[in-house]
Amino acid sequence: MQCLSGAAALPPTVNSLLFIRPSPPPPRTLTLAVTLNDGEPSRSEPRVLSCCSCGRRTGLLGAAAAAPLLPITTFAAPVASSSDPTVVMERLRPPRPDWYEEFYAQAMEEGMRSYEAEIAGYKEKLFSYLTDKSKNILELGVGTGPNFKYYATINDLTVIGVDPNKQMEKYARSAAVAARLPETSFSFIRGVAEALPVRENTMDAVIGTLVLCSVKDVDTALREVKRVLKPGGLYVFIEHVAARDGSLLRFVQGTLDPLQQFVADGCHLTRQTGKQISDAGFSSIDLKTAFLSSVSLISPHVYGIACK
Ligand SMILES: C[S@@+](CC[C@H](N)C(=O)[O-])C[C@H]1O[C@@H](n2cnc3c(N)ncnc32)[C@H](O)[C@@H]1O
Repeated sequence: MQCLSGAAALPPTVNSLLFIRPSPPPPRTLTLAVTLNDGEPSRSEPRVLSCCSCGRRTGLLGAAAAAPLLPITTFAAPVASSSDPTVVMERLRPPRPDWYEEFYAQAMEEGMRSYEAEIAGYKEKLFSYLTDKSKNILELGVGTGPNFKYYATINDLTVIGVDPNKQMEKYARSAAVAARLPETSFSFIRGVAEALPVRENTMDAVIGTLVLCSVKDVDTALREVKRVLKPGGLYVFIEHVAARDGSLLRFVQGTLDPLQQFVADGCHLTRQTGKQISDAGFSSIDLKTAFLSSVSLISPHVYGIACK
């Protein structure tokens, strides 16, 4: 498989605002009443105006009332020593109560539509790198399967969706049907990115959108991405990262980070995920930053493609 050469085809930097905007839109009373501008120049390319459930303005505060009931650890846990994917998952990401997993899955399903509509231009360009050579795809934290529609042009495709939240499966299956993936082409496996339940050198592409904010150990997850990719295989990513040091947004992110982890299923606001991807030892990488235009806790994004 050929690796990427050059960044020209990826969309330029964008000012975007990522927030879940459930359909129909919720009352505005829960909107974070802060205008957060990172001081980065604004561009006019596709604007992302809604969100990741991790940064949702409704979910964050709305879930707060239930937060004390959630068994979510907000500290960094060491990666389990066992290499059994199930054991690692149970240790790193013990199951949440069913009601919470369903709540989160439903929030992703219903609250991401505006976001998906607005980020579609970016995804179309990123996913256009997946050709018929990318037949075996693994999605980290597949969630409700919003990326499946971008695989429609790939023939004889198989997709393995890995996610610790079992409630995501039914939504992901519906998305697979809507994207006309043959039923046998998609399998959902409960698991975590830190211990992927597939053998090394077997995947043509690994996809991860809005996932490394939520894993317990980003570096281990990236090692796993490299392990399962075939030589020349592609890692396609879109992740939200910490704002610029010293900015107001960065300050707010730092302040709210513990609460965010607690109420948004372990999502971190202050990770330097772009740097970690860059340092992960891929043979080539094309990484861009998307600056978000105004009210958002989860600005900016990094997005791109890395090649093993
Ligand atoms: C914000 S959602 C994004 C879902 C989907 N990728 C998307 O773009 O809509 C984060 C997802 O990561 C999953 N997740 C959380 N911890 C994980 C881990 N350690 N490994 C893999 N997935 C994880 C969650 O269950 C959830 O489905």
